[in-house]
This record gives sequence, C-alpha cells and structure tokens, in this order.
Amino acid sequence: MSGSGARRYTGGLVNLDKGRISREIFTSQSIYDDELERIFARSWLFVGHESHVPEPGDYMLGRMGEESVIFNRDRHGRLHVFLNNCRHRGMRVCRYDSGNSRKFACPFHAWVFSDEGELIGVPKLESGYHNDLDRSQWGLIEARVASYHGYVFACWDEETPAFEDYLGDLRFYFDDYCELPDGTHGDWEAFGGVFKWKVPCNWKFGAENFGGDYYHNPSHASVDAVVLSPAGTKGRHTYDTVSKTRAVHKLNILTQEGHNARGELFKDDYDYVPTYQEMAVVEDYFRDCYAKRQAKLGEKARWYGHGGTIFPNVSYSNGVQSMGTWHPSGPHETEIWRIFLAPKAAPDEVKNVLRHYVIRYQGPSGLTEQDDMENWSSAHEGARGTIAKRHDFHYGMGIGHERKGWPVSWLGGEIYATEDVSEQNQRAYYGRWARDMDRPPFQRKPLQAAE
Ligand code: FES
Ligand SMILES: [Fe+2]
Repeated sequence: MSGSGARRYTGGLVNLDKGRISREIFTSQSIYDDELERIFARSWLFVGHESHVPEPGDYMLGRMGEESVIFNRDRHGRLHVFLNNCRHRGMRVCRYDSGNSRKFACPFHAWVFSDEGELIGVPKLESGYHNDLDRSQWGLIEARVASYHGYVFACWDEETPAFEDYLGDLRFYFDDYCELPDGTHGDWEAFGGVFKWKVPCNWKFGAENFGGDYYHNPSHASVDAVVLSPAGTKGRHTYDTVSKTRAVHKLNILTQEGHNARGELFKDDYDYVPTYQEMAVVEDYFRDCYAKRQAKLGEKARWYGHGGTIFPNVSYSNGVQSMGTWHPSGPHETEIWRIFLAPKAAPDEVKNVLRHYVIRYQGPSGLTEQDDMENWSSAHEGARGTIAKRHDFHYGMGIGHERKGWPVSWLGGEIYATEDVSEQNQRAYYGRWARDMDRPPFQRKPLQAAE
C-alpha cells in the first residue's frame, strides 16, 4: 500500500481523526506477521534488569517478538543480547532460564559459542569441514543493547535511533519510575524469577490498557473493596490512602513518540501521610525516603507516577515497581512476562511488605491483573466475531480536548496532558503503531547465505 502512496493504516484501519480503529488490527494473521517485521524487528524491546545478571558469566533468557534471546554479562562485565539460535541449524543454544556460563554449547551438533558470542568450537572442523569454515563469520547474532538506569533494552535494527532518543519525551516519566523512593538513582533489585503466563488476547490490549485507560476503573470495583494496598487500610494502590487529600490533578500524558504515562500532581502544600504504621521499620523507611525525595526534587516531587507504556510492548508500574512485557504469540495470544523489583538497600521488612503487595496486586496471582485478563480476553473474542468485526472500535473520548504542556511547565517535553479520563493516550499509541506499520517492508539480502 505504501508504494502506491495510499496508507493502509494511518487514516485507514486506524482513523484517529474520527476516533475509530478497525477490529481487524487485533485479529488478522497477515497484519500480525507485518507487526513482527515492521515493529518488533525495529523497536527497542525490554529484555531484563541488570540485577538479573549481576556477575560475570550470568545469563537469563529473554524474548524479542516471538524469538528467544540470551541476555548475559560476559567475563569482562559487558552486557550482550544474542539471538538464542544456532547459526548451523537454528537449535536453541541455551535451554535454561538462567545460570552462569562462559560458553553456550548447541546440543544438536555441538557448535560452541563464547559468552561474547564468538563461534569457538566446531566438531570435525578438520575432517568434516576440511578447515574450510570461517568461524569469525558464524558467531551468534547480536542485538544493540542499552542499559537505562539498569533497565536493559535491545534492538535488532541499526537505523533505529539510540535508546534515549527513542524514549523521547517519556524520559521525565520513565526517569521518575527508575528513581528509588528517596528520589535517587540507586540500585533496584529484581526479586524472584520472571512471572510468565498466557492470555487469549492480542498483545496490544495490555499495552494500551497500561498506557492510559483510567476509564476501566469500574472493572476493579471488587478489588478496591477488599483492600490490597501496603498500608492495609484502604483500596488497592500505594497512593489510595492519600490521593483524595493531596492530589490536585490525575493526569494522562501522551508523547509524540506514542509512549504514554499516567500519574498524579499533588497540591503545593501536601504533606507526608503515614501509611505503614503497623511496622515501625517500614514506616520509618518510607518517611525517611519521603523527606529525602522532597529535599532532592523540590517542586518536582509533586509528581507521582502511576505507570505507563513504552512503545511497543512494555509497561511499567510505579508503586508495585514492575515491568510487564506483552510478548506476541500469534494474533490471538499474548505471553505476559512480568518482573518485580525492590530497593536493594531497603530492610528485609520493607522488601517483604512490597513482595506480599505485588503478589496480591499483579501477575497471574494478582487480583487486579486477573480483572484485566478477563477484560482483554473477552474484548479479543469480541473482535473476532463474523458480524462484530464489521464494526470499528470507538477511540474517540476527549478528541480535540488534548491540552499541550498543561498544567505545569516542568512536566517535560512536547507532551499533552488531560485531567480525568481520556483516550488521547491510546490514540497516540495507535498513531505510532500505524506510522510504523506503513513503513516499507524489510528487504532480505538475496545472498545472505554467502556471508
Ligand atoms: S544446530 Fe547447532 S550445531 Fe547444528
Ligand atoms: Fe486494570
């Protein structure tokens, strides 16, 4: 379509002027296949946190699009992301979720790769290959890697901008997420493994929901009622006990890059409200963090982020400090990977409070995310029906009411913010999605085998 000048997605299946999006973009196999090439092969994708691989030789498996990758720290301390795929016949060269190793030996015919990706061992190199194999050309396929405050992203495409440019105006909000509760950029520590589970819905449902859907709060009414918050006194959020008294604005933030953020702006004169009185050590920790954050950030401490989505498929959540990745598994299934983190230097009692909170809140055992999964899987089913799919989804809430740079100038970048509910964030997200999908397809080199 793009060759003829007409765009299939921008203004077509994704018509943002009218606030309409075709259900087809969630269910079509051919559109899904194009997403793998035009979005996942060219975007920065989240693969893990540095604390997953703290020592030389440490590795864990990640995933980019549908494909397995090895995220490791080599013997010199450098981070790498390799396609977990043997150059000989494509077998996975690493079959463990995590571990420590200086080499990866393919189980099929035993080619061996170093922790820097080089092909260092080939059985029968002399008698079979007659030394006619240039090992330097057959190392593991390696992605670009960017570590941002310890959160590690990777990208296959050389032409994609550097990660910080890719993040664009979301930097202020993602920086805020990366800060410890005391406002510094100290160490977070991922705890436990990676939660992995499958949901029968398209991968975009989770990404758009976490990027700005305050409108769906009614579906969590029962969870709000049972009290999940760490304070144990009210609601399900870390901020539930105080938001009504100190929040002046609840904001949706969209960026031109299609990344989204959500959060609250507190009143000028808000003060610390004790929320962890049941355990003195926990209360002391958060009170101390609050004082330090105020001193360090001043006016900007009024911003309290709730979370957001980095295009295309990772969503961060403040408060529970998690990263959820919406891995595509065909048009009709998402494999969710979620990690949780705690401040590394915090007392064990604090880490335990946070750990118990996230078990109640998010992940496959979390009551809030169980509500979400029910919504998304049913909505996906509702996008597939023969009659239903003739009718577009409505994404028109708040159209024309986006307000640039509002309400305070230091909410950084070329951003648009709306108070209360709006679907502006979802429109920004799908606008980016449509632009990327309208790009020319990847051109495979004709003689790749001759490398
Ligand atoms: S597939 Fe790995 S050595 Fe053959
Ligand atoms: Fe939700």
